[in-house]
Amino acid sequence: YGSFARALPHRAHGEDPLLLRALRGESVSRPPVWLMRQAGRYMKVYQDLCKQHTTFRERSENADLAVEISLQPWRAFQPDGVILFSDILTPISGMGIPFDITAGKGPIIPDPIRTQQQVDALRELVPEEAVPFVGEALRTLRAEVGSASAVLGFVGAPFTLATYIVEGGMSKNYTHIKKLMFSEPAVLHGLLQRLADAVVTYIGYQADNGAQTVQIFDSWAANLSPRDFDVFAGPYLHYIIKKAKEASSRAHPDLPIILYISGSGALVERMAACGPDILSLCHSVDLEEGVRRAGTNFAYQGNIDSGVLFGSREAITSRVRETAQQAQRAGVRHILNLGHGIMQGTPEDAVAHLFHEAKNLQL
Ligand code: CP3
Repeated sequence: YGSFARALPHRAHGEDPLLLRALRGESVSRPPVWLMRQAGRYMKVYQDLCKQHTTFRERSENADLAVEISLQPWRAFQPDGVILFSDILTPISGMGIPFDITAGKGPIIPDPIRTQQQVDALRELVPEEAVPFVGEALRTLRAEVGSASAVLGFVGAPFTLATYIVEGGMSKNYTHIKKLMFSEPAVLHGLLQRLADAVVTYIGYQADNGAQTVQIFDSWAANLSPRDFDVFAGPYLHYIIKKAKEASSRAHPDLPIILYISGSGALVERMAACGPDILSLCHSVDLEEGVRRAGTNFAYQGNIDSGVLFGSREAITSRVRETAQQAQRAGVRHILNLGHGIMQGTPEDAVAHLFHEAKNLQL
């Protein structure tokens, strides 16, 4: 098993949440289950809360609200992982990059970064000062869910963060970041390295405050040619994971790191080469093929098409069962999840059905 499989003599393993026990390779009766974007707009309780607290930054940057929203899916479905309600962009204001997240447009960066001068002006992230509400929320979540569920932290990877920071928001064609890549690569590398160092610090901060695993989202890295992934995404992922593991082997010897890429089909071997503990595959990859390509030393997360949640009960049931069986046949540790996040408009009772089926699996 992965590096975090070492026994921890000071801790009673039986008391740990199912997700952590499954990742250690202990024998468990079913795979743990949580869903990416399990909190948010598809839930009525969230929509109601949005009427009182109208901006995303208010909802995510106030520890009480972030805890409340993180716990909404916990109360509704008892997932085996409770992910902090936050965003990958949350820490960047602490580096001197203002941003907003608005209802129809998504993330907006009013002053996109495209020059060396702007890169030089960036500040180091000091999470205790910039995002103290994240630490507070994680500590409260750990106290709230105890050993019944794992608390999951997350970060954006440098390339995916840079797509927002350079483009100024969401993008279809990524023309600004590609222009930088193919004309002034040193400027982009400067930005990516600053982001990588901030992400390492941020992972340590989340672990120190109670995150029991951390997921790295390089959601948009599959928009790179594999050869460009090897220059602009892979090395930074490798760096972050190596540094985070070095730091965490002192304070948190068992901190498992999950790596997620949307459209990971072409990149499975490259994801593995970055050295995470868990490969979170999207639904473009057949799970058993993914295991054949990257091997059984990794645990796997995924990879049910989120679109199934718009389908029939039977379709959800069989996809849950088949996905768990695939991981079982492949002989790997597995966290049941979607291939990407829950989409807006997903029926809540479909999500409830998925959790019910996953928690009652007889394998
Ligand atoms: O999973 C969870 O329940 C935790 C919450 C979470 C959010 N963002 C809340 C959010 C997580 C893990 C993220 C990560 C994130 N943010 C990623 C990586 C995950 C992925 O989907 O690939 C990315 C790429 C972002 C950037 C971002 N922020 C996008 C693309 C959007 C949606 C834009 C839109 O309007 O469709 C956001 C805003 C955002 N982050 C929302 C939520 C619930 C929606 C806005 C709102 O509810 O007010």
